[in-house]
Amino acid sequence: MAALFDRFYGELIQLLDRSRLLHSLGVTHIALVLAQRYQQDVQTVAIAGLLHDCARCLPEQDIGKRLSSAGIVLEGEDIQFPQLWHAILAGEMIRTTFGVSDAAIQRAVRIHPTGDEAMGLLDKILFLADCIEPGRRFSSIARLRSLAYQDLDQAVIEALRTKIAYLRKSGQPLHSRSLRALADLECRRDSDKPTLI
Ligand SMILES: [Fe+2]
Ligand SMILES: [Fe+2]
Repeated sequence: MAALFDRFYGELIQLLDRSRLLHSLGVTHIALVLAQRYQQDVQTVAIAGLLHDCARCLPEQDIGKRLSSAGIVLEGEDIQFPQLWHAILAGEMIRTTFGVSDAAIQRAVRIHPTGDEAMGLLDKILFLADCIEPGRRFSSIARLRSLAYQDLDQAVIEALRTKIAYLRKSGQPLHSRSLRALADLECRRDSDKPTLI
């Protein structure tokens, strides 16, 4: 695993600036802690954490061109969210540039900025690690960090609520995938509650 990680890191430093590289290492660190807490495969999580933003420093136009030359057609709402295209391209690059064929890693990377319906353990760990890595700063982060180690689903729900509230307050566009992710997790949580007959 160390050799693989070294190879990926060597390629990643060609693609990312210093701050995005530090962010990626921070995400990897938190994702590994969460993987051990929730019994997820550590190698899978380390690869997803390290590579999730591998396309983040490419210019927007370049990302668009690379997506179309990879045959990826942006659909529906995704067309209106160029700030999320790096995740779609990263899902492709981890296969073509880094040789990672694991479909679960590709999906987790693709949806890391928004979440989605039916999130699996890897999706949740990467989404949350991206929100709470050591370089992030926002008012409720201390609570979210401690919640992440106690109740993963509730932490993802609260991270989504925080993200959605921030985007609304700052007048930024909100992708409906985040709303669907939140509704889905809340619904599953409600259906897990014991019912009084
Ligand atoms: Fe990202
Ligand atoms: Fe990120």
